Amino acid sequence: MLVMKTNEIRNKFLKFFEKKSHVIWPSDSLVPQNDPTLLFTGAGMNQFKDMFLGKGNLDFKKATTCQKCLRTGDIDNVGKTASHHTFFEMLGNFSFGDYFKTETIEWAWEFLTQELKIPEERLRVSVYKDDQESYEIWGKNIGVPPSKIYRYGEKDNFWPANAPLLGPNGPCGPCSEIFFDQGEKVGCGRKECEPACDCGRFVEIWNLVFTQYNRTEGGKLVPLPNRNVDTGMGLERMARVMQGVQTNFDIDIFSPIIKSLEEITQIKYSGKDGHAILMRRIADHLKACVFCISDGVLPGNEGRSYVERRLLRRAIRDGTQLGVKDCFLYKLVPIVSNVMQEYYPDIKQRRENIARIVKSEEEKFHETLELGTARLKELMDVLQRNKQKVLSGQEAFKLYDTYGFPMDMTELILEEKGFAVDKDGFENELKKQRLQARTSSQMTGQVFDTGPLSRIKDISKGTEFLGYQEDACEAKVIALIQGDTLVEAAVAGGEITVILDRTPFYGESGGQIGDTGVLESNGNQVRITDTKKNNDFILHVGKVTKGEIKTGEVIRAKIDIQRRNSIRRNHSATHVLHYVLRKVIGQHAEQSGSLVAPDRLRFDFHHFSGLTQEEITRIEDMANEIILTNVPVVVKELPIQEARNAGAMALFGEKYGELVRMAAIGDFSKELCGGTHVHYSGEIGLFRIIGESSVAAGIRRIEAMTGMAALNRDRDKERLINEMCNVLNTNEDKLIPKTQDLLSELKNLQKEVHKVKQKEISGKVDSFIEHAKEVSGVKIIARKLDEATADDLRKTADMLMKSAKEMAIILGAAQNGRVTIIAALSPNLVKCGLHAGNLSKEIAKVVGGGGGGRPEMAQAGGQWPEKLDEALSFATELLSKKIREGALLSSG
Ligand code: ALA
Repeated sequence: MLVMKTNEIRNKFLKFFEKKSHVIWPSDSLVPQNDPTLLFTGAGMNQFKDMFLGKGNLDFKKATTCQKCLRTGDIDNVGKTASHHTFFEMLGNFSFGDYFKTETIEWAWEFLTQELKIPEERLRVSVYKDDQESYEIWGKNIGVPPSKIYRYGEKDNFWPANAPLLGPNGPCGPCSEIFFDQGEKVGCGRKECEPACDCGRFVEIWNLVFTQYNRTEGGKLVPLPNRNVDTGMGLERMARVMQGVQTNFDIDIFSPIIKSLEEITQIKYSGKDGHAILMRRIADHLKACVFCISDGVLPGNEGRSYVERRLLRRAIRDGTQLGVKDCFLYKLVPIVSNVMQEYYPDIKQRRENIARIVKSEEEKFHETLELGTARLKELMDVLQRNKQKVLSGQEAFKLYDTYGFPMDMTELILEEKGFAVDKDGFENELKKQRLQARTSSQMTGQVFDTGPLSRIKDISKGTEFLGYQEDACEAKVIALIQGDTLVEAAVAGGEITVILDRTPFYGESGGQIGDTGVLESNGNQVRITDTKKNNDFILHVGKVTKGEIKTGEVIRAKIDIQRRNSIRRNHSATHVLHYVLRKVIGQHAEQSGSLVAPDRLRFDFHHFSGLTQEEITRIEDMANEIILTNVPVVVKELPIQEARNAGAMALFGEKYGELVRMAAIGDFSKELCGGTHVHYSGEIGLFRIIGESSVAAGIRRIEAMTGMAALNRDRDKERLINEMCNVLNTNEDKLIPKTQDLLSELKNLQKEVHKVKQKEISGKVDSFIEHAKEVSGVKIIARKLDEATADDLRKTADMLMKSAKEMAIILGAAQNGRVTIIAALSPNLVKCGLHAGNLSKEIAKVVGGGGGGRPEMAQAGGQWPEKLDEALSFATELLSKKIREGALLSSG
């Protein structure tokens, strides 16, 4: 058999289908665009679901892709088997109501046997049990002998698996799978072994799905308007077959990672033992994280970010199992970049930032391990004290989940100290969490969208955006949505979402917020307060303010130009800032997010330390110089390759089509961007940075203002200084020395006050002691201090406490209509069972309040100052009683 590199297989596949008149379409981001309900892209078809439902607006019917996919369903098998991954690439060809079973099967066979030259006898196929048509195509058209065509049920030959019975709702259909036979020597060795056997002899290389149904509630299979094709070939598996190696991890795009791991760990990769499992898992998880980070997902505690963090942590921990003490994963990022860069140039461009993020996560996790170990020690102490031997499953799970502390480490440490852990309890908790995770990551979750937008897609392909050139236009009302229902009309007072056939309103995207404005016709008016985007639809959100609005009518749509101009200024300013930042602090300072609003802009970027004042000044200066140079801002559409050749920056996590918009600010900045911009840099006006802060590990944020907003802000600052001068009765030059003088004067006065107070307290302390009541050898003091703060009371109590061995003190003060009470007991009284917290609580009841605290010192409050004397008399009585009882107790 031919030996073929992974890149070659990918290219051959795409080219093969291009020759069969398919459009080579870019992979969607791992973060599904326009589908917040989906955690990660899990199949090539995800980005085409509208096309399958007959609602898409791509102008071709045949496509081929190499899709980045991430699935966590099989995570426990990764490393243990030859072919499971979290991240993998899926090659696919798609027909949206064009060709169907015959071509799909014939082309698949042609590709495998003629392009890849796989001997026919090594291939077996399966079809859905009721799919006679496919059976016959394989038998008659291709000539596969009946003994090599298998009929399986919904579990194996329906996609999604078991969809008719179990769902999810949405596009689905029977499928036909192609298997590569590794020969009798591999696997169970049974003569009758067949593809459904899980011994590993047969490698499933290609899944041909005939997406012809829409599953609806109750498992009804409704035929789709079109009969579609969705195929998926696991690239890594195919490469394994074509390279004649044992596992996916031995192929050319994995072995360099494994090799580096061998060097780092000084352990030979054997392919079989426990170490090999760990090495494979590290390679897989790291690759998944590199792609996630490149697609804009940073490690964190929620959703996608959490999945990524868990993957990274598992890989780091596997490293520690292999004896690696320090951070090591980040060193492998360039290796991943090297093997993947041919098809994924972004990974190469970002590898340093990606490595930094990985490293910072590694550092953080090492700290976590320390914290977890400390926590585990505490838990063991508790077990010891309670004379228990087994740590509960919940506690072990909490360690694992909150601290990220691995379960086997928990087990190991416990074992060493003679404890055990309730593993079943732990597994139960884990199961609960998995169930939650699975429901939220349903791969095909939103394939079938039944909301109002889904119905609008039946009548319209989307909204044409005219806002790059126009501020106003005539447009037809395509649909009106109120709540989640489509309505024909809405009258004054009604909140409404309006969809037009064309619009000048920019729908929030790429960090730029949506436009506001009005929709008008013959005295009717809708005020638009926000504009959103959903796939190709622009949604105008607002309220009918005059008359009514009706579906089908033509209205005039007008944006708030002033506001949009401010947005334009801020958007162009983010590009200038991006350019200047990379000049001042380094090329790594790439954008990781932004917000472009009318009044300010926010720009997040990769950098590991706070900016110095000098850096901020230089950035501001350089940005203002570019603005003052007043260079033209040219925005044009061009093929992506041309834009890349021109050096345009692409952003993390954005997916670009073949045609892109590029915004160039003179010869300075060039970026791919869908937003709206000024025509000349000078229009930005003044540029001021108003804040710099940290958002996440390795990500900093700059906030800035431009134009009139920046000017007004500076003016406000000036006004503030003037007011301060007035208040302090000085002028600007003397503002600082005068303030300093005042502060030192204040400090001196505070010292004086303190001294006086101390003296006063000492005087009181002497008199309190002199007049103290004594019961069973204990001095009881329950007294009032006028106009004292809680702090004064506490200090007085402390001083009193020092004057005798056995004391019970209650001090009260009334200030500003509120009562404060402090209770303090000497240690012996506490030993006898008295409790300052409980005492203060009871006494405070008399003044209409409550409180509590430690046994030796506590504070309480109340709201009836007039009852303070009563409370103190009560305190004396209560203390006397308690002390007598205590004395009896201690002597008895
Ligand atoms: N969508 C099909 C799969 O994921 C091709 O297997």
